Amino acid sequence: MRQRVLLMHHILDPGPAILAEAADVVEYPSQRPLDEANIRQAVEGCFGIISLLKDPIRSVVLSTPGLGCVSNVAVGFDNIDLAAATANHVMVTNTPGVLDESTADFTFALLMATARRIVQADAFTRQGNFKGWEIDMLLGTDVHDATLGIIGMGRIGRGVARRARAFNMRVLYTTPKRAPEVEEQLGVTYIDMNRLLSESDFISLHVPLNKDTHHLIGAAQLGQMKPHAIIVNTSRGPVIDEAALVEAVKSHRIGGAGLDVFEREPAIHPGLIALHNVVLAPHIASGTVRTRSEMSAMAARNMATAVRGGRPPNLLNPDVKR
Ligand code: DGY
Repeated sequence: MRQRVLLMHHILDPGPAILAEAADVVEYPSQRPLDEANIRQAVEGCFGIISLLKDPIRSVVLSTPGLGCVSNVAVGFDNIDLAAATANHVMVTNTPGVLDESTADFTFALLMATARRIVQADAFTRQGNFKGWEIDMLLGTDVHDATLGIIGMGRIGRGVARRARAFNMRVLYTTPKRAPEVEEQLGVTYIDMNRLLSESDFISLHVPLNKDTHHLIGAAQLGQMKPHAIIVNTSRGPVIDEAALVEAVKSHRIGGAGLDVFEREPAIHPGLIALHNVVLAPHIASGTVRTRSEMSAMAARNMATAVRGGRPPNLLNPDVKR
């Protein structure tokens, strides 16, 4: 008998064909709210779930009888309770590697857009305010030769560091586990968090969201930053205390922020909307056609392997008993 897989949202080609070859695909009703009770109801009788990062997959869902695998179409998996999955013998997979370069590109784009006020300049120009060249029109902050502090030196952090080299930036990093080989390859300098915060002109976050990184950047950390410093976040929103960030930017305690992720997505702190020195994007750092297609294919392949009784390649809980 063919297994059933619940597809929470549509994914890109070739994902659907890979899935359809392996299993019967059931679509989650698109208008139904994304809460655990509804997802639990929809997943009854299914072996697998293909989820996005906005789907809460916790113990209510994970204890569904017969559930064998959750394949998240994202590298981050903070929407899934991994311990509950393991306890319920459910395999969990993600999509590492394929989105690093696109995310690093976008991080740099946000950094540049915030530093050089690109979004403000576009609005200013469209609104017919460009009446002639002025010496002090929309002045920004130089990116070249500046100091960039990277918090979290995984694959995406390293991608950002490589891009920074081309801008002749001094790159500092902090991470729980120092990476001497990266220091040698990329010429980056390991430094403690306090010094990174106080010495950087730009700070970019590349950590997973977990209990150690929740509100890693709060009022105290923002207070240590340079008054012109810009913080960029393409990791997860709750890594920054959003209310504290609004306060710090509003009071010119720091220079600005480039944000692709938010503490309570899709809600955005109203204070952020009002700030001109903040550039906002709707969680699209990995959003290129090629990368999102590769993520879809990878997630579908992870599920297809599990459906056929194998151990999927990107298994996040290898200790799971099945
Ligand atoms: C992820 O994969 O975790 C990103 O946030 C979306 O691509």
